[in-house]
Amino acid sequence: MSRIFSGIQPTGDLHLGNYLGALRNWVALQKEHECIYCIVDLHAITVWQDPKGLALNTREVTAGLIASGLDPKKNIIFNQSAVSAHAELAWVFNCIARLGWLNRMTQFKEKAGEQKENASVGLYIYPNLMAADILLYKANYVPVGEDQKQHIELARDIAQKFNNNYKTELFPMPEPMILGEATRVMSLKDGSNKMSKSDPSENSRINMTDGPDEISRKIKKATSDSELLPGDPKDLLSRPEARNLCAIYAALSNKNISAVCIEFEGKQFSVFKSALTELAVSVMGPIGVEMARLVSDQGYLDSVLKDGAERSRVISNKVLSEVYDVVGFLKT
Ligand code: AMP
Ligand code: TRP
Repeated sequence: MSRIFSGIQPTGDLHLGNYLGALRNWVALQKEHECIYCIVDLHAITVWQDPKGLALNTREVTAGLIASGLDPKKNIIFNQSAVSAHAELAWVFNCIARLGWLNRMTQFKEKAGEQKENASVGLYIYPNLMAADILLYKANYVPVGEDQKQHIELARDIAQKFNNNYKTELFPMPEPMILGEATRVMSLKDGSNKMSKSDPSENSRINMTDGPDEISRKIKKATSDSELLPGDPKDLLSRPEARNLCAIYAALSNKNISAVCIEFEGKQFSVFKSALTELAVSVMGPIGVEMARLVSDQGYLDSVLKDGAERSRVISNKVLSEVYDVVGFLKT
């Protein structure tokens, strides 16, 4: 049986991009695989996090995973800082990864912006910690959105170099798993930016906790264009906002974009947007309600994370111990 690992940052509201690019696929995978899902609070603090907000968001993301349909008994759900092996393996990987490899990471460039000298060192070595997350469980597949592909390639490079340096086959090569019709959901306001927790405009994203009125308002306000919907998805290539809305519709309705184009060929955006609103409310509405219910049950959420951390330690301590043996650390 293949092992699946993925992570999500507790840095703000979960949104439709997280749901379609990651969470929904995680829910589908639990039927046939052993799955481990980590709320990556160590990654979160690579940029400033208010301590109270971080704790709140960690519980809220846990609620989001469960409300989306992940069964915490079947899967392992835990927060990264509770399992110290993540930070320990990351250190070893800091000594394996090369500066040149990290210099190529586009997410660092985006997040550090103009002020590179001011970025935390943690932000720079973020991908090494991510490689540790994945390889600590010898995971075979990593379901993520498109934006994380480069980081998984780096995890493969680290696994390969570790295996070569130490003449071992300890680590399998993890594969990215990029699934669905909306692997990169774009901002509702600008089709050239991805939908993101860090976008200052609330109207740029649909949050998983948004109720029907907010969903409807945001879709109404979403940027589109004045043309009619085409019958062929090729004609959407030069219309990024229109393409994004069609991709969201496709993913939410489990269809492909071609089928959506055929369904709405020649229709105006107003018609399409009402259909999209109805669909988004029917899929996302119940998840938001369940999330709110779970967030109010802190005791339950904490018990899920505690149980997950205990189960993940059983696997990760064993792998870390294998790594330490290979590297030549004495276990005194
Ligand atoms: P993050 O919120 O950055 O921790 O991302 C958690 C997961 O959601 C990762 O698998 C990301 O690839 C995915 N994700 C985040 N934003 C988007 C987006 N706009 N479209 C598709 N997937 C996304
Ligand atoms: N970097 C990922 C993101 O921002 C989160 C993450 C951390 C992750 N560790 C991981 C994803 C391990 C997959 C596997 O979305």
